[in-house]
Amino acid sequence: MKETFKKEVKQGLDENPKTLPSKYFYDKKGDALFVEIMNLPEYYLTRSELDIFQNQTQQLINTFGIKPDNYFELIELGAGDGLKTKELLKTLDAQNYNFDFFPIDISLNALTLLEKDLNKEIPNLSVKSQQGDYFKVLDSLKKKEKPKVILLLGSNIGNMTDEQAAEFIYNLGANLLPGDKLLIGVDLIKSEDIVLPAYNDSKGITAKFNMNLLTRINNELGGNFNLNNFKHLPEYNEKEGIAKSFIVSTTNQTVEIKAIGKSYHFNEGEKIHTEISRKYNDEIIEKIIANTDFNLENKIIDSKEYFADYILTIK
Ligand code: AVI
Repeated sequence: MKETFKKEVKQGLDENPKTLPSKYFYDKKGDALFVEIMNLPEYYLTRSELDIFQNQTQQLINTFGIKPDNYFELIELGAGDGLKTKELLKTLDAQNYNFDFFPIDISLNALTLLEKDLNKEIPNLSVKSQQGDYFKVLDSLKKKEKPKVILLLGSNIGNMTDEQAAEFIYNLGANLLPGDKLLIGVDLIKSEDIVLPAYNDSKGITAKFNMNLLTRINNELGGNFNLNNFKHLPEYNEKEGIAKSFIVSTTNQTVEIKAIGKSYHFNEGEKIHTEISRKYNDEIIEKIIANTDFNLENKIIDSKEYFADYILTIK
């Protein structure tokens, strides 16, 4: 892990303009900050998708096209705290659907907490947590050849470029059989006055989340970033539909990273690009799935029309 972190930090800071990968936001502190973000008034994404899962649960279930008696596997990639999925699970359980729930996450801690919570709230539910890499886990589930519904919620796919997303969905498809479903939750393109505050909240939690990358480099790679000389900078262009997060240097400075054995100069105003949060519409989704084995089957949106769950089926 440390070797990959070191390699990718070096790669990113050697680039011009400089970049750092957003996947490194998520250590223990970053996970906790992201939970805080999901509860912020400005961060509408989680609430919007929860609105779908609470108020259109039956529509979601109907698009799965599965009869209560027919066994299926419900697999969630990046299950986290399962807040939204719990709404679906409760309804499936109440309607006596015959299924196992497979939450997959890289965080063993998150899975243990989720399992405890589900055992308490839905005691009948069969939960088969799987810790690890999505594709390794899917590969092991594939061997059973049972009908599958995969959930990929929270606009997590939005942290990938469209090319990466297309490749990711293509690879998911390769692990599935005709009729299997993929439900992807995505944030929709909308105006700057709604999107930008979600990435620039008034309490400064998103700023801490972004800057946590520098703290990690300091702690884990022997860096000497002075956090007072950098600040969080979000941008959003509605035409492009992509929110971008940067860390900007507020002065001319040089930072040493011992583990890399190198110093980096930053000009005043120089930006490090740390994250993209893609926003979508039908055209973008169609383009992303064009070369995969999936067809677009349905789209369910929340009451404010901020967020959509797209349901795709394997041809
Ligand atoms: C996890 N991901 C979908 C979040 C997003 O909205 O891009 C991460 C995040 N970054 C800043 N705030 C939240």
